[in-house]
Amino acid sequence: SFTLRHRNFLKEVDFTPAEWKHLLKLSADLKAAKYAGTEQPRLRGKNIALIFEKTSTRTRCAFEVAAYDQGAGVTYLEPTGSQIGHKESMKDTARVLGRMYDGIEYRGFAQSLVETLGEFAGVPVWNGLTDEWHPTQMLADQLTMTEHSDKPLSQIAFAYLGDARNNVGNSLLVSGAMAGMDVRMVAPTSLQNTEEVVALARGIAEQTGARITITDDVEAGVRGADFLYTDVWVSMGEPKEVWDERIALLKDYQVNKATMEATGNPQVKFMHCLPAFHDRATKVGEDIFQATGMEALEVTDEVFESEASIVFDQAENRMHTIKAVMVATLGD
Ligand code: CP
Ligand code: NVA
Repeated sequence: SFTLRHRNFLKEVDFTPAEWKHLLKLSADLKAAKYAGTEQPRLRGKNIALIFEKTSTRTRCAFEVAAYDQGAGVTYLEPTGSQIGHKESMKDTARVLGRMYDGIEYRGFAQSLVETLGEFAGVPVWNGLTDEWHPTQMLADQLTMTEHSDKPLSQIAFAYLGDARNNVGNSLLVSGAMAGMDVRMVAPTSLQNTEEVVALARGIAEQTGARITITDDVEAGVRGADFLYTDVWVSMGEPKEVWDERIALLKDYQVNKATMEATGNPQVKFMHCLPAFHDRATKVGEDIFQATGMEALEVTDEVFESEASIVFDQAENRMHTIKAVMVATLGD
C-alpha cells in the first residue's frame, strides 16, 4: 500500500497508473459515503486557498463544497483580486501562501506557474486547469465513464473530437493511456496533440496496454466508441481572433446526431467538460454565433439534451473527485 500524502496534483503523469486508480476508488468511496450520510470529515481544521486567474463555475464550486463537506475552510482569490503575477512572483506567492494554508488550488495560464507554486509552497498544490493540463477533470470523467459502463476502463473506447491541442485534449489522451483505454483523438492535423504529448502517451500505453489512435477521419475515429467527448473550440486565454479559423477547421468535427450514429453503438454516450456552446437561443456566445450563422458549435442541442448526454453527471463528479484529491494529499 502507498500514500499520496503531501503530494502535489499538477498533472496526470506525475502519478503511476496504480496511484491514479487509487484516486478513482477513493472518489467512488467518498461519493457513496456522502449519499449514504456516512461521510467522515478528514480535513477538519485545514485552510485551503483557491486561486483562479481564469474564471470557473464547476471547479471553484467543487473545491468549495468538497472542502466544506470535509470540514476545511477556504479562501477564494479571484482573477483580479491578488498581487499574483502583477506585483508578486509565483515563487514569492508560494512561500507566503504556504505559511498560511494547508493546501492550494491554482487555475491559470502556463503550467510552469502551477509547477513553481508546487515547488515552493511546501504544502500540496492542486492544478485546477492550466493551458496544458486539466487533471481534476480527468478523474471526474473516468469516474463518470465507469458509472455508465458495465466494462472496466481498460475495455472502454472513447473518441474526443475537436481541439485536441487544448488542456482537455492533452489530458484525455494521457489519462486514457494511463487507464489502458482505447483512445481516439479525432481532429484536423493542425489541432492534433503535439508530437511530444503523443510520444508521452504512447510510452505510457506500452506499459498499460492502451490503444491510441490519432486521426483526422471522423467516421473511422468514432466507430465502435462507447463515449464521444468534445470541448469548446477556443479555450480561455486564447484571443477572440482565432474563432474564425477554428470554426473553419472544426465544423466537420461537431458532435451531432450523425456523429453519434456513426459510432454504430446505440448505447454511445455524450460527454463534455462544460461550459458548452450548444444552443444559440440561450444568447450565450451570441457574438460568435452571429459571425458563423451556426445554431450550435461543438455539439448540437439535440445531442446535448438527449438521453445519451451525461454531462451533468460529469459536472457532479468534479466535486467527489476533487474531494478525493484533497483527502488523499492532505487528509488525516
Ligand atoms: N469543466 C470545468 O473546469 O468547468 P469550470 O471552468 O466551470 O470550472
Ligand atoms: N478547454 C477549455 C476547458 C474549460 C473547462 C478551456 O480551457 O477554456
